[in-house]
Amino acid sequence: MLNFVQHRDALFSKMADNTLAVVPSADVLLRNRDADFPFRQSSDFFYLSGFTEDSACLLLQKKQGQCKTILFCQPKVKEMEIWTGYRLGQDAAIDQLQVDEAFAIEELVKQLPDFMGDCEQVYAAWGHSKAWDAKLINAIEQVKLKSRLGIQAPTAMQAIEPLLHELRLFKGEAEIELMAKAASISAHGHIAAMQRVKPGMYEYQLEGTIRQHCAEHGSRFDAYTSIVGSGANACILHYTANDQAIKDGDLILIDAGCELNHYASDITRTFPANGRFNPEQKALYELVLKSQFAAIDAVKPGNHFNSPHEVVLRILTEGLVELGLLSGDVDTLIKEEAFKPFYMHRTSHWLGMDVHDVGAYKQDGNWRKLEPGMVLTIEPGLYIAPDDESVDEKWRGIGIRIEDDVLVTSDGHRVLSHEVPKTVADIEALMAQAS
Ligand code: GLY
Ligand code: MN
Ligand code: MN
Repeated sequence: MLNFVQHRDALFSKMADNTLAVVPSADVLLRNRDADFPFRQSSDFFYLSGFTEDSACLLLQKKQGQCKTILFCQPKVKEMEIWTGYRLGQDAAIDQLQVDEAFAIEELVKQLPDFMGDCEQVYAAWGHSKAWDAKLINAIEQVKLKSRLGIQAPTAMQAIEPLLHELRLFKGEAEIELMAKAASISAHGHIAAMQRVKPGMYEYQLEGTIRQHCAEHGSRFDAYTSIVGSGANACILHYTANDQAIKDGDLILIDAGCELNHYASDITRTFPANGRFNPEQKALYELVLKSQFAAIDAVKPGNHFNSPHEVVLRILTEGLVELGLLSGDVDTLIKEEAFKPFYMHRTSHWLGMDVHDVGAYKQDGNWRKLEPGMVLTIEPGLYIAPDDESVDEKWRGIGIRIEDDVLVTSDGHRVLSHEVPKTVADIEALMAQAS
């Protein structure tokens, strides 16, 4: 079970004495005229509270060594709950969320100056939201008006991110369990798509296959908008239109991952619509796969965050020379970034509550060392633009990415998304079984 009190205690231990941290919930966002986007809680807020309602704010006060958590949330109002759903309310919040005090959200503006009185610094996500910046600065101004009563106003606005996001970067056991489960559900969603595909289907129908599978297995939302790109659409890195018909002979790139209780998975597989890779597709696919296996092997404590990327660049460049898509000395080609027209993104990002999760990538200007509890993706790819006249025609329009979710362990790594096949033989065997 996620332990939100433990998360708060960890943050308190990083906060200086006589400070206040302010962490608001996410807002409901309008999609179009009276229709909202599905609500997604702020990851920072959920990490510290476990609370899923909007219109809420958490205060963490550390005063003379004493730590106190205060929640502001929507009051229980029957007439409102009939329209917008159940609200926890203040009394139940104290009990269920184990906060020290709870007030109606309407009280926040009035009470913030009191909580800031004699607090030296205010930790918040400054610069993230103009509305919250204004609210906090206004509260500081209110405290200043009380200076003749001997109450000191805060003298420093501190970014909360370096403290909170460093905590979020290291996943605890319950978080790893959730992420492994999310990855497993998504993995089987990818398998379902590989088994269902037929030339003539539309890309969004495979998107639907994965979503249905994930919903059936307990995931309410995707972690991000799925990418289902067939043919040359696979060369568009953030393709989300997903509205084209799949053709015989196409490769299909699916980048999709579900979210489970606010924790993400992020998986990409590329497979042939008709169940068989053609020789050019196979050659490029096996090159990407070779780089991915080697990059995963580079995920271990002691190596730095950029190690897998460096491994990928070398293997892809060597392979592109062997296949005739690049020519020249490999070291020089790497130095001159000759791979860039075919591989223009990085190999990894942190993964956690956010798909591109928080946490610093560098420390003192250097790539940080990998440590147990970090989770990162390994996602090399090759994308040969359909109009790239620098390469033989037979390569054009092929887009490939292979992405897995990898936990750093004390003696190496664990691939959380290992259940989706990725060798040519395994993919072709799986697809042959289905037809
Ligand atoms: N799905 C987003 C990414 O792979 O970074
Ligand atoms: Mn990714
Ligand atoms: Mn992805």
